[in-house]
Amino acid sequence: MYNIALIAGGDSGEYEVSLRTGDNIYQMMDKSLFNPYLIHFKGSAWTWKDPEGNIHPIDKNDFSLMVDEKKITFDVAFIAIHGTPGENGKLQSYFEMLGIPYTGCGSFSSALTFNKYYCNLAVSALGIPISPSLHFYRSDRIDYAAIEQVCGYPCFVKSCNSGSSVGVTKVHNVGELDKAFEEAFKYDNQLMVEKFVHGREMTCGVTAVYGAVQLLAITEVVATNEFYDYDAKYSAVGHKLLTPANISPQHQAVLKEYSERIFHHLDCKGVVRIDFIISEDDGIPYFLEINTIPGQTALSIIPEQVRYNQLDLTDFYTRLIKEALQ
Ligand SMILES: Nc1ncnc2c1ncn2[C@@H]1O[C@H](COP(=O)(O)OP(=O)(O)O)[C@@H](O)[C@H]1O
Ligand SMILES: [Mg+2]
Repeated sequence: MYNIALIAGGDSGEYEVSLRTGDNIYQMMDKSLFNPYLIHFKGSAWTWKDPEGNIHPIDKNDFSLMVDEKKITFDVAFIAIHGTPGENGKLQSYFEMLGIPYTGCGSFSSALTFNKYYCNLAVSALGIPISPSLHFYRSDRIDYAAIEQVCGYPCFVKSCNSGSSVGVTKVHNVGELDKAFEEAFKYDNQLMVEKFVHGREMTCGVTAVYGAVQLLAITEVVATNEFYDYDAKYSAVGHKLLTPANISPQHQAVLKEYSERIFHHLDCKGVVRIDFIISEDDGIPYFLEINTIPGQTALSIIPEQVRYNQLDLTDFYTRLIKEALQ
């Protein structure tokens, strides 16, 4: 029997989603193999609530719990926090220093992929199309001319380190730019401006089955809002998911190859979701971003793709944990 610290919560706009992801994974985890403890993170409060409702703090020196004067340690940390500190390499670094195995991407891969601008650079270097973009720090002056020239309008302004479309604005003309910068800088001190890709949004679940990289499925995301913004993501009516996406065999093959290439070269582990937009103008799939801790609520895309593969979600999580143990 392995003790699993299933960690949810965190300090981003995706806190609530993470709690639901954590609950769902808890439900699905094989209790005949694993003894899961749902650990709640909020700021510096890392706690476990026992069945009687008593709250126990984690001892951060060795990530252990003291319950009834007995010390509980963990064989694996299952990280289910979207955004900071679970998706950007911080928790991964902490567990690496303590020598505690954890699920998913390593600290470097997590930190690299979490920054949308650097991730774009790395993916582009693999020969995969990205939409042209510019990078700004808070202290930089807004270069209106360069934005007009490189991106034009509409364009997207996004804070580099965020998720769930928080800090993301679709900018229709130069008059809306300052406000979009202000919004993005609320969440981070760097942002990117990206050329708009008019097309269909695809998201590819990717995992590695004992080392062999494998696309789970391609899902088309159809947002009913102007883009896949926060409200569209977390309301049942704001979007529609189509698994498998109804696209040509050529596009399927290209997305599969791109996703697996990215997963391998960016040293991804566990299960990730890689997003693309297939342009209606030139037919090219442009890389958008990688989610290294993708949503896994009962209604999320990854569980749907696992089911589409006729895989059992419980077995799926058993494999992720066993891989972390190796
Ligand atoms: N360059 C772009 N062209 C068209 N739509 C975009 C572009 N960038 C982002 N979007 C839209 O904004 C959404 C959120 O952007 P994304 O980069 O995925 O950030 P987040 O991490 O917040 O999900 C996307 O799902 C997509 O609908
Ligand atoms: Mg996204």
